[in-house]
Amino acid sequence: MAKKNELTHLAIILDGNGRWAEKHGVPRVEGHKAGAERVLKLVEDLNCFPTIKYLTLYAFSTENWNRSEEEVSALMELLCTFLDQHCETLIRNKIRLLISGKREKMPEKCLKRMDQVTALTSENYEKTVIFAINYGGRQEITDAVRKIAEKIQTGSMGIDEINESKIAENLYHPDVPDPDLLVRTSGELRISNFLLWQISYSELYFTDVLWPDFDKMQLEKAIYSYNNRDRRFGGRK
Ligand code: IPE
Ligand code: IPE
Ligand code: MG
Repeated sequence: MAKKNELTHLAIILDGNGRWAEKHGVPRVEGHKAGAERVLKLVEDLNCFPTIKYLTLYAFSTENWNRSEEEVSALMELLCTFLDQHCETLIRNKIRLLISGKREKMPEKCLKRMDQVTALTSENYEKTVIFAINYGGRQEITDAVRKIAEKIQTGSMGIDEINESKIAENLYHPDVPDPDLLVRTSGELRISNFLLWQISYSELYFTDVLWPDFDKMQLEKAIYSYNNRDRRFGGRK
């Protein structure tokens, strides 16, 4: 029987929507729609995984602006629709929504919805779902460096105070613990600039399953694998 590792924070790189669309002979945007439906299902299924208190979903990277204008605007439109349609679901499930990423370049109407839903769910305590949108791991670290430099410049912090905790405190969501498990769908074996600081000791799980096909059973498989990992953190059992 699998022994249990604590699983408080699950992070997922949602990949493979485009290939899912191709496989089904439909336009790419249909793959993104199917992917958004899967996000909703997963959020609803979270109740079945009581230990998971944080779920971070990588939905749009700082590099995804390199896609066609048509695809980018379809993705932004989908984000707005998702937030409009499912705010109630988040509230009903006592889920707090956080956004991780840069506001720059984001369409005004997305920012408005993001602000509304994060405000409306801010009192929720059961679980936290974090959408990483216009997110880049290097950007997040760069922003932390800038914040620290500003504090040093104004004299509120000294150079000798810089340490790992201080850097972590200046990331986008310092109160969120590091991910225990990072899942990437669609068979790609890379991190693509996701949570570079926070995943230093996360367990990694890669699956060939495309994101729109990643159902509850697939998640259970990932957790089963995670439960069998020997998390040593450099020490010895
Ligand atoms: C993931 O699916 C969604 C985003 C990155 C926005 P992709 O669109 O990357 O799907 P593939 O990799 O082309 O299959
Ligand atoms: C990573 O997926 C980003 C998100 C899932 C949001 P990509 O499909 O953009 O990654 P690469 O380009 O294959 O590395
Ligand atoms: Mg991809």
